[in-house]
Amino acid sequence: MTSTAILGECLEFTVTEAFRQARIAMQKTEPNAMPTTDVDHVFRYTHEFSDTVITAARGACVHDRDGREILDFTSGQMSAILGHAHPEIVATVHEAVARLDHLHSSFLSDVVIDFAQALSDLLPESLSRVLPLSTGGESNEAALKMAKLATGRYEIVAFDRSWHGVTGGASAATFNGARRGYGAPMPGVLALPTPHPYRSPFASNGDYDWRAELDWGFESIDRQSTGSLAAMIAEPIPSSGGIIEPPEGYLTALAEHCRARGMLLIFDEAQTGLGRTGDRFAFEHEGVVPDILTLSKTLGAGLPLSATVASAEVEQTCYENDFLFYTTHAADPLPAAVGRKVIEILIRDRLEERARELGDYLKGILRDLQQRHEPIGDVRGRGLLIGVELVEDRHRKAPAHALGAAVGRRCIELGASLNIARQSSAHVFRIAPPLTVTRAQIDTAMTILDQALTECVNR
Ligand SMILES: Cc1ncc(COP(=O)(O)O)c(C=O)c1O
Repeated sequence: MTSTAILGECLEFTVTEAFRQARIAMQKTEPNAMPTTDVDHVFRYTHEFSDTVITAARGACVHDRDGREILDFTSGQMSAILGHAHPEIVATVHEAVARLDHLHSSFLSDVVIDFAQALSDLLPESLSRVLPLSTGGESNEAALKMAKLATGRYEIVAFDRSWHGVTGGASAATFNGARRGYGAPMPGVLALPTPHPYRSPFASNGDYDWRAELDWGFESIDRQSTGSLAAMIAEPIPSSGGIIEPPEGYLTALAEHCRARGMLLIFDEAQTGLGRTGDRFAFEHEGVVPDILTLSKTLGAGLPLSATVASAEVEQTCYENDFLFYTTHAADPLPAAVGRKVIEILIRDRLEERARELGDYLKGILRDLQQRHEPIGDVRGRGLLIGVELVEDRHRKAPAHALGAAVGRRCIELGASLNIARQSSAHVFRIAPPLTVTRAQIDTAMTILDQALTECVNR
């Protein structure tokens, strides 16, 4: 080996070692920095890794390496509505994987036909054609493509606090993050102000002129548009944006604006579908039926299943225009069997009623906490999809990011994972336990939140 090569190796070793030491030091001061031991080979797909490593999950709890039980009040990634390892889902997976797991995407199977029927039976008559897929992003890609083919136009409108996924089209319609550094997003995506009763500039002293805000938003869309408005895509309750429940009447007025422009309305119910908000689907609350509905997360109760559901008319037009959404796992039997079982349990156990009752109970406790903890500026949401916003002071409402992150971390140490956001947007606790959670578990989680808030505010 030449002396230059040896020097090079030494330098590389020194740099690597220095980097390692720096990370160890960082880990001590920044608990959310990546641990330095056996996870070195995991690509950091987020800045928000927790330093708690999970080994198992059951019901409303996960268990860490030390065997510690932690209440999972985010249902994993807002998905596990039946809790973890629900015995009927475990049995369904065992049975389905042994009988019929995966197929050539041009083969349909009985289980997929049955799942599509069961899902359309749950929905209004107009939503009758089901495309089974794997992820939420995928279901929205399909919806956007359907809307473009069905209308012959290309522009898409989305809320400015939206999250629809990280794939091309879905991320172009996502304004709540992950936009910088990737070059030009899909052209023709326009943003509409999210109706935010707590933070809108159109709201003051308890009055919120959301209609003026909506009209003003669409005036702006009309000015930006090239005359090719295809669809509006919206979460009925924007979740990643901060669990923002639109005022009563808003979705009806939104649908009117879309109709007036010949646009389709797509509802993305990744988080709100399947009972979570106290209705089977959040659109039922105001009775606004979308032209296209996307479901994911809760549809597989934590397993990768999504669906794009459209009317027979939209489906026919797409078919005539050579619609192609041929993914490897489209209409796979294994996840469809899970979805079929989730629907059966949802109906049998009336999970939407449970979500409504337990949601009221949980919100009641949170409102009591709000009386005692000054930083709790707002408690909002529907059913078991609840937002708790922490602010620096209630008058100016500056978001309390650092406090939110500290309280979230302390809650995990005390045994409850209570906020889907670990760092970014950590000031809004987004709480969504499994719909199978018990009152006793809610009491325990709220005692932990109370203690964590007290400790972190006093610190
Ligand atoms: C409303 C909504 N739609 C779509 C997605 C994307 O789903 P996935 O991560 O499964 O692609 C998310 C993910 O958080 C979401 O919250």
